[in-house]
Amino acid sequence: MVLRSLVTLILVAILSAAGIVFADAQPKTFTPRDESPEEFPAGPGRDDTFYTCTACHNFKLVAQQGMSRRQWEETLAMMTEKHGMPALDPKDREAVLGYLEKAFAPSARAAPGGWQNPFLNR
Ligand code: HEC
Repeated sequence: MVLRSLVTLILVAILSAAGIVFADAQPKTFTPRDESPEEFPAGPGRDDTFYTCTACHNFKLVAQQGMSRRQWEETLAMMTEKHGMPALDPKDREAVLGYLEKAFAPSARAAPGGWQNPFLNR
């Protein structure tokens, strides 16, 4: 009797270990939800912008840019025209543009983690 429950115990242990192994073998695909809005500079419109853009790609792709408002407007137009992003209604568009131009302005490139000019010695 003791032996039988011992065998059962060992079997359960092996099977659950196998389960873990198999679960690990699943390919880990990126989902934009691996990121959260809090990882990015705080500001009005951040969450709206985050969720609008991460419908298709990660937000790092956005955050690594540093652009003027006009360039962000062009980017939004490109997302709509080339990539099928639903056009934003004026209120959302304003919130998104307002956030992008503030959080990822051209100078944001010099921010920690952003692009660094290798010729600037600081
Ligand atoms: C309907 C899908 C969709 C949505 C929504 C979307 N994008 Fe994109 N975006 C794409 C695709 C497709 C690419 C190009 C493929 C890639 O690099 O992943 C892209 C690429 C980009 C790039 C890189 C362009 C380059 O030249 O490398 C930027 C910047 C960008 N998107 C900004 C945004 C911003 C900001 C938002 C939210 C306001 C947004 N996107 C929302 C589909 C989308």
